[in-house]
Amino acid sequence: MDTIRMENAYINKIKQINKNGKYAVLTMGCQLNENDSEKIAGILKESGYEKTEDLSKANVIVFNTCCVRENAEDRLFGKLGEVKKYKEQNGTIIAIGGCMMQEKHIVNKLKESYPFVDIVFGPHTMQDFPKDLYESIVENKKIEDILDIDGNIIEGMPIVRDDKIKASVAIMNGCNNFCTYCIVPYVRGRERSRNPQDIYNEVLSLSKQGYKEVTLLGQNVNSYMVSEKNNGKDVNFEVKKEDGKIVTVNSFATLLKLINTIDGIERIRFISPHPKDFTDDVIEAIAESNKVCKLIHLPLQSGSTRVLKDMNRKYSKEQYLSLVEKIRSKIPDVEFSTDIIVGFPGETEEDFEDTLDVVIKVKYEQIFMFIYSRRVGTVADKMENQIDEKIKHERFNRLKKLAEEEIEEGNKKYVGTIQKVLVEGKSKTNEEIYTGRTETNKVVNFEGNNEMIGEIIPLKITSQHVWYLKGEAIKL
Ligand code: 5AD
Ligand code: SF4
Repeated sequence: MDTIRMENAYINKIKQINKNGKYAVLTMGCQLNENDSEKIAGILKESGYEKTEDLSKANVIVFNTCCVRENAEDRLFGKLGEVKKYKEQNGTIIAIGGCMMQEKHIVNKLKESYPFVDIVFGPHTMQDFPKDLYESIVENKKIEDILDIDGNIIEGMPIVRDDKIKASVAIMNGCNNFCTYCIVPYVRGRERSRNPQDIYNEVLSLSKQGYKEVTLLGQNVNSYMVSEKNNGKDVNFEVKKEDGKIVTVNSFATLLKLINTIDGIERIRFISPHPKDFTDDVIEAIAESNKVCKLIHLPLQSGSTRVLKDMNRKYSKEQYLSLVEKIRSKIPDVEFSTDIIVGFPGETEEDFEDTLDVVIKVKYEQIFMFIYSRRVGTVADKMENQIDEKIKHERFNRLKKLAEEEIEEGNKKYVGTIQKVLVEGKSKTNEEIYTGRTETNKVVNFEGNNEMIGEIIPLKITSQHVWYLKGEAIKL
């Protein structure tokens, strides 16, 4: 594990020339991408910029892109058209970072069709963004700062978090799985795990700042340290805790147990594990750790064994279902959420029905559904049996209908129960109503007050809807 501490030299240089500048960071991807955006915002804040939502007032606009699905590209190019006028009017610096910048055809398109973009940087060069920005301001030159090799783990990046109650903490970078539809291994490189002492220190500091919930992030969290182990490195890290005790961490299970001991943090989530790596020690660690939420995100992708094989997922429909059963038998009241792709090349009606069958059998709490999107450079993009767009959409709508029915039906089990809800704030649509989440990540709306924000309170669930539950405060 090669860890590098970030230097602040260029941040200080920008600070000296920056006069009340404003920044905007637009996040276009997953939670890891959001976490990176918080670090880009951290760099800009440290450099003396203030955040603005109004793009016309920003001196620096950063797009943090994603490339997992095609619609992210359409969004980026649409938005770039919009900010061009700010560049022309105000000389705004336009920077684009994130996974999409690792794709050569995209960077070429930017150079040809959007020459007003000042800085292009990738996920492996985020720590050099201050230098890129400084040079762009001072020398007014176009900068392309992309590394093709796996980046090191960078520690000590400043961070401005979007939320005061829940925080995400990256525990690893990259992916080794090469699911055939997925671009991530090509743009984020191979798996690299963070040193557990750095993870512990970050979560400890979050608890001191009053955060109640952490989500541990990685493309494949349950192979934390596996790649280092396979490369023959000694992964028995001795982590020194706040009370002076030393704990050995050498796997995802031991990391979960360590984070579970941090006072003040009341909920621990993690995304995403891979079903093939869901070992018994991880199941035991979840069962034993009172703060680890009993909602497991277990990406299915497809319910058809044949499609799963073509996707290179390394499990069958039966293996997935027996994993769910095994987890259910060891962790009382556990629930599941999932990711599903419809319309993978060669998916037949029968294959699709296998997916629907798994949805009916597992009874998920939440399903993230995606229409298969061809990604240049992946194995599936070269498959000849691509599915017609119309059929993809039809299947997507059928899955969505079933998922909504199942989820609403499943929500009935909450009515009349008392749920511990972490209160996040006021509802966006109604001033009187407060909103929070159950341990299983269900949104609950209820009449509350400001003092409840950031607290976990018991609520009696009074009714169920597809996307949320209604509750009322009770006195215990
Ligand atoms: N098309 C559609 N969905 C995809 N995902 C990843 N790659 C693709 C693709 N090419 C989905 C998977 C993954 C989630 C983050 O995005 O379901 O779990
Ligand atoms: Fe993509 Fe598969 Fe890696 Fe997830 S596990 S990031 S879907 S290649």
